[in-house]
Amino acid sequence: MTSRAFTDYIHHIGDRTDLFLAVAAHTGARRALYPGSYLDLTPSYALPDVTYLDSDARARKAFADPAAPALATRHRHYPQNPRITFVPGDYTRTLTELPAAEWDLAISLYAGPVSEHVTRCLKPGGWLLANNSHADAGLAHLDPAYRLAAAIHHRTGHYRLTTDNLDRYLQPKTPPHATRRQLHTTGKGIAYTHPTTAYLFQHAPHSM
Ligand SMILES: C[S@@+](CC[C@H](N)C(=O)[O-])C[C@H]1O[C@@H](n2cnc3c(N)ncnc32)[C@H](O)[C@@H]1O
Repeated sequence: MTSRAFTDYIHHIGDRTDLFLAVAAHTGARRALYPGSYLDLTPSYALPDVTYLDSDARARKAFADPAAPALATRHRHYPQNPRITFVPGDYTRTLTELPAAEWDLAISLYAGPVSEHVTRCLKPGGWLLANNSHADAGLAHLDPAYRLAAAIHHRTGHYRLTTDNLDRYLQPKTPPHATRRQLHTTGKGIAYTHPTTAYLFQHAPHSM
C-alpha cells in the first residue's frame, strides 16, 4: 500500500485541499490536468477527474497503486468515484500527445513553465491555477493566451479568491517586468508589489 507516500507528502507540504475546493467552486471545473504533480493527490479530493503527469519514478509507482483512488474516495468532496489518470514522463513532451481542448483546469505549482505547454489541452475558457515560485504566474501574465481572473490569498489553511482590483497584481516592484527569456533563465518568479499565494488565469477563447 502506498497511500503513506501521499499522506506523508501532505504532512510535508501542508494540506491544500481547501485551495482546490475554492478553485473548483469558483470555476465549476471538474476535469483537471496537473503537470509536475509529484505526490500531490489533493486535487482529487476536490475534483472528480484529474490527470497527473510527472517524470519522477516515485510518483509513477505511487499512482499505479489502488491505494491512490481509495484514498481519494475517502477524502472526496463530490458524490461519484474519483477518476485518476497518471501519465509518466517529461510534460514538455507528454502534453503534446494528450488530446487538445479537453480539460477545464490546469494546475501549475512549483513545477516549472507548465503554462507554456498546457494551453492546447485546455478547453477555450478553461482555467490555469499557477503560483509564481518557478515564475509560471509571470509567464502566464506575459502570455496573450491567458488573462488574470482571480488572486488567491492563503491564511491559516484557508484559501480565498478575490476578483477585486486585479490590476494591482503582477506589477513588478522594479519595472519593467522581466521578459520571458529572463524568467526562463532564472527559473524564479520576480518580486511583485502585491504578491499573493496563487493566481487564477482564464484561457482566452480567441487565442487558440
Ligand atoms: C517541487 S515538486 C512540486 C510538486 C507539486 N506540484 C506540489 O506543488 O506539491 C516538482 C515536480 O515537478 C516535476 N517536474 C518538473 N519538471 C517536469 C517536467 N518537465 N516533466 C515532468 N515532471 C516535471 C518533478 O519531477 C517534481 O515531481
